[in-house]
Amino acid sequence: KKNLNTEFIGQNIEYFETIDSTNMYAGKIANKSPEGTVVIANEQTKGKGRTGRRWISKEEEGLYFSLILKPEIAIVKASFLTQLAGAALVSAFENMGIDAKIKWPNDIILNGKKIAGVLTEMSAEIDRIFYIVIGIGINLYNENFDDEIKEKASSLLKEGYKVSRKDFLQEFFKEFEAMYREFLCDNRNEVLDILRKKSAVIGKEIYVIDGKKRKKAKALNIDSYGNLEVRFEDGEEKTVFTGEISIRGL
Ligand code: BTN
Repeated sequence: KKNLNTEFIGQNIEYFETIDSTNMYAGKIANKSPEGTVVIANEQTKGKGRTGRRWISKEEEGLYFSLILKPEIAIVKASFLTQLAGAALVSAFENMGIDAKIKWPNDIILNGKKIAGVLTEMSAEIDRIFYIVIGIGINLYNENFDDEIKEKASSLLKEGYKVSRKDFLQEFFKEFEAMYREFLCDNRNEVLDILRKKSAVIGKEIYVIDGKKRKKAKALNIDSYGNLEVRFEDGEEKTVFTGEISIRGL
């Protein structure tokens, strides 16, 4: 596992057969662990998805891991790291001949179906970040999905790609580290390029979800901070910072 092409990402790995959630565990050890520490589990019993959802994490189906970061940056810049992780994911897939796309802000899509997700959690006080945990779940070998997500989710194997955990992690750690270094020097250009080129959203008709309301819009572009610029049907343009969007067919 040590023949990685990285300086710090993945140099310290904690592996578990089974754990509640790699994000939760990473949060517990973050303060005493070096930056770049990765927690990996074969199975999670309480895998967490975004917005309080579960992330079903059965043994032999997926890749579940969390990355501990300790950047010395302003808190407002931290949300970009989730998208940076998305860019590193699609780049790693691209290196393996897989043309995955990003559904803004951070779902990874292949052939119109979700194959991976990112859940970022942060511990910070007013002007200081203690740590950031970036949790990534990838559907590698799943054959079946729960009814609610059946139409929307797939796995790499279902889409015709057999990817090994080790090969993928090597590619991902390398891509992530290179992008993260640039980010720390305030250069987001490469990541933004990938976010735009690999966007499953730009140019599409979408719905911007705001509480209980859904408003139809067209996704125009991703701005230099990673926010989504949209135009509503009445011509009003807006920048969407976070939250959910939905796209027909995705
Ligand atoms: C999403 O909802 O799209 C994000 C899913 C993130 C799942 C990963 S699996 C590894 C890490 N540990 C967790 O409990 N969640 C993340």
